[in-house]
Amino acid sequence: MENIYLVGFMGTGKSAVGKKLAARLNVRFLDLDALIEEKEGRKIVDIFRENGEPYFRKLEKENLKEISTKDNLVVACGGGIVLDRENIALMKKTGRMVCLRARTEVILERVKRYKHRPLLNVEDKEKAILEILKVRQPLYDLAHFSIDTSDLSIEAVVEKILAHLNK
Ligand code: S3P
Repeated sequence: MENIYLVGFMGTGKSAVGKKLAARLNVRFLDLDALIEEKEGRKIVDIFRENGEPYFRKLEKENLKEISTKDNLVVACGGGIVLDRENIALMKKTGRMVCLRARTEVILERVKRYKHRPLLNVEDKEKAILEILKVRQPLYDLAHFSIDTSDLSIEAVVEKILAHLNK
């Protein structure tokens, strides 16, 4: 099986959906952020604080490159993976790029109690979400297909992805 790359904004369900999807397909699940944290021996927030976002993006790109040489993987990518066009090209070349979406108020509700996302550790989270989405939406739209997870259970999202993949 070619890899399945889950992309989309923070809080759209990439990790939760990815784990279930991989189990259904009987393949390995890989969380790109978790892999980076494991290799660096520190959390994403600390990488951002100590070395800045460009350094994190470099790690993200390197790790995606490495993963893309393998197959039979479901990969949950960080929300900013699409900022680099070469990442998009690589995902589309080596697998299916699947985007998860959610309404802004749903994203806000899902992310508000967490502190591990440096880009959303700000006073006005809604404003930050809208600003980031404005830049990224055209890039997320380059995915092979998108699914709105706002009103769906994790299982229902998995079913929808499977249905699309079998088309
Ligand atoms: C980011 C999303 C995060 C993580 C980092 C940056 C982004 O991943 O990679 O905090 O730029 O959208 P999740 O989308 O899994 O939260």
